[in-house]
Amino acid sequence: MTVYQATASAPVNIACIKYWGKRDTKLILPTNSSLSVTLDQDHLRSTTTSRADPSFTHDRLWLNGKEEEIKEGGRLWTCIREMKRLRKEEVEDKSSSEPKLSTYNVHICSHNNFPTAAGLASSASGFAALVSSLSHLYSLPVSSSTLSLIARQGSGSACRSLFGGFVAWQMGSNPSGSDSLALQIAPQSHWPDIHALICIVSDDKKGTSSTSGMQRTVETSSLLHHRIKTVVPHRMETISKAIQEKDFDTFAKVTMADSNQFHAVALDTEPPIFYLNDVSRAIIALVVEYNRLGVEEGKGYRAAYTYDAGPNAVIYAKKENVKEILELVVEYFPQREGAFKDAFGLFGGGGKVVGKL
Ligand code: ADP
Ligand code: DP6
Ligand code: CO
Repeated sequence: MTVYQATASAPVNIACIKYWGKRDTKLILPTNSSLSVTLDQDHLRSTTTSRADPSFTHDRLWLNGKEEEIKEGGRLWTCIREMKRLRKEEVEDKSSSEPKLSTYNVHICSHNNFPTAAGLASSASGFAALVSSLSHLYSLPVSSSTLSLIARQGSGSACRSLFGGFVAWQMGSNPSGSDSLALQIAPQSHWPDIHALICIVSDDKKGTSSTSGMQRTVETSSLLHHRIKTVVPHRMETISKAIQEKDFDTFAKVTMADSNQFHAVALDTEPPIFYLNDVSRAIIALVVEYNRLGVEEGKGYRAAYTYDAGPNAVIYAKKENVKEILELVVEYFPQREGAFKDAFGLFGGGGKVVGKL
């Protein structure tokens, strides 16, 4: 008996220009383009195994060992349906000898090796891994861009995790969503000097999911309109150029400004959404002071913080400064005895630091 099974893994990506707002909630079409860095280490990954079998009575999915409901018309359902459609069109309709896997139900099992729904982009790595695993299972001869169109319909940010390095999600203009996909701006090898430091302030599931939070922002924030019309288009150009030119000062300034504005539109939402906490704000103050000293010493900016929809910090920095920043974070947020055990160091306020070194 042949077993039809495939495993794939995908890393998270952390946006420098944030996606926050949908113009079409069903197709997941964004109100603005966005740009991120895909983390290439093994600390923050989703790993997903899919199996197709004629004996399965319905599609099922387990996330971190717990079964999730696949609701008809929901995101998981849509991604699975789209992948089965591609299997039929790209493989089965072209060669009658191929097994009709598109007619079998699937069982899918996924694990995240980091906190789920805590503002560390688990939906991004999760849906990218789901689509990749089904693409392997179905032996699809399709590009990462095509897969990004499907991952986008699971979670918007997931379309960017199908590429490594520096990735843009162009918002597109076609109402069908056919041009709302991710593109690699530059591979990581273009600027290998950029590293990310992940500061886990809290493992807790966030109070407001990204999906419901951004919808409320679209409905109630007047600042969002200014952001998507005036600010983001300009920033996309500026940061893309900074990446091409390996200009860390500009990259850092734009990244921090965009994180600040994203949290400002969250605050401008009715009722307001607070994703940052006191420890997050203290890390911002530390990075600001570190950069002030860098400029004073003629070294320029040396670190860029950014926060997704949660309190956990990601700090982008050049390799030469990562060790010092890690030491500073650990010094200012001293480790709590026995609170966490982690290979990369720990700090108080309920946090640990994971270094990409
Ligand atoms: P995050 O900041 O972690 O991306 P979100 O609120 O955007 O948080 O999304 C969290 C949701 O994404 C989870 O509740 C789950 O539905 C989905 N998700 C997370 N990880 C996976 C995975 N590995 N496979 C499928 N879906 C996942
Ligand atoms: C703050 O992609 O998680 O991380 O499309 O509703 O699943 P849905 O939302 P999601 O939103 C991510 C928001 C963000 C910014 C970003 O990753 O660009
Ligand atoms: Co998410």
